Amino acid sequence: MSLDLDAPAPEAPDCAADGAWLACIECGATFAPFEDVRYTCDDCDGLLEVRYADPPTFDGFGAGADTEGPERGVWRYREALPFDLGVTLPEGDTPLHEVPRLEADVGVDALRIKHEGMNPTGSFKDRGMTVGVRVAEELGVGALACASTGNTSAALAAYGGRAGLETLVLLPEGKVAAGKIAQASLHGARILEVDGNFDSCLDIVQELAARGEAYLLNSLNPFRLEGQKTIGFEILEAFHADYGTYPDRIVLPVGNAGNTAAIYKAFRELVQAGALDPTDVPKITGVQAEGAAPMVEAVEAGNDEVRRWEEVETRATAIRIGNPVNAPKALPGIRNTGGTAVAVSDDEITAAQRDLAHEGVGVEPASAASVAGLRTLRREGVVDDEEQVVCLTTGHLLKDPDAAYAAGGDPEPVANDVDAVLDLLADE
Ligand code: F0G
Repeated sequence: MSLDLDAPAPEAPDCAADGAWLACIECGATFAPFEDVRYTCDDCDGLLEVRYADPPTFDGFGAGADTEGPERGVWRYREALPFDLGVTLPEGDTPLHEVPRLEADVGVDALRIKHEGMNPTGSFKDRGMTVGVRVAEELGVGALACASTGNTSAALAAYGGRAGLETLVLLPEGKVAAGKIAQASLHGARILEVDGNFDSCLDIVQELAARGEAYLLNSLNPFRLEGQKTIGFEILEAFHADYGTYPDRIVLPVGNAGNTAAIYKAFRELVQAGALDPTDVPKITGVQAEGAAPMVEAVEAGNDEVRRWEEVETRATAIRIGNPVNAPKALPGIRNTGGTAVAVSDDEITAAQRDLAHEGVGVEPASAASVAGLRTLRREGVVDDEEQVVCLTTGHLLKDPDAAYAAGGDPEPVANDVDAVLDLLADE
């Protein structure tokens, strides 16, 4: 199978441009990368992925690349991307935080937090957009669109605006955190609030894209995932620099399963290049909220197909998704790396959000799902105390100020008087 961890590096077809092309993961059909706008396979409607004649090695990153360019961030990995530079703010190069108290409390040998909330618009989506908007320029499209639970819309608006392109976003009404709508709005997107959930928004925007109204920049777009792939490269490089080994496991929240697919692709390409031993590939472990857990259902049942959940609900609105479109890419990633998937409750998510915040790491609820999931897997004995783990936190605390405020303590009113303040403090 083409998505196996040890699949051989592919031969470039005639349609390749600069050693890159699009391939269908279902039927193997190949397409020129930039001649036409295309999101899925013409022949069988399967998902497409970008393939390269020369998969990347660690030596080709940064100064080791054939071309000059950034030493840090997404474009450090230009050898593994279809362009050398894109519309950049810049993005990537996010911290791999130590959290010693949480590490001891969870009870693993090492726990690091890869905080993607530190990207320019506060989520990992910026990594996908820097590449996706560059491709939009290459294709010569005039308008960009996405469906979103919020973060994609913020990133699309910022990167599209910077490129001087029109941006349209479809959001599920009443289910998007305030910070994200504020961003999309101020960066200049036209915002439509749909009386439906994220999955219905995606159905509509796919139809708009098919009719040529706008270029689709959801993670169904294979170029988005190329940018997000760099999360995997950064984790491996940074972890190796600190520990001399690669992490045993990467735990991440799952919505549309784009990141899961992208990180697996990063590892697969390094294995194909002979730069990473298959036994060193971290176990990819997905976490969903109990009220929106179709991937977990499929992994637990051993199914190859994911059933669409029509009704979804969770406080972690970013991952309030019932139809993970990237499942055909992500399920092999979880299975072939020996990973798993687990569901957590909203209260467990909020508890993990507090734990991270108390170590100074401010994340939105969906992000905290990774840590909540790790706790569950430790409790169940799936993760043992010798593991070295990286949890991905995908969005910044300020994305969802209402959730942060609800999870924190209330401010105490006090009179405008020092004695009143001292009295109140003495009360404790
Ligand atoms: N975490 C956050 C903060 C997100 O915003 C998302 C997805 C995910 C995790 C899930 O990532 O889809 O790659 O599995 N947000 C999308 C959006 C759907 O519209 O902003 P995934």
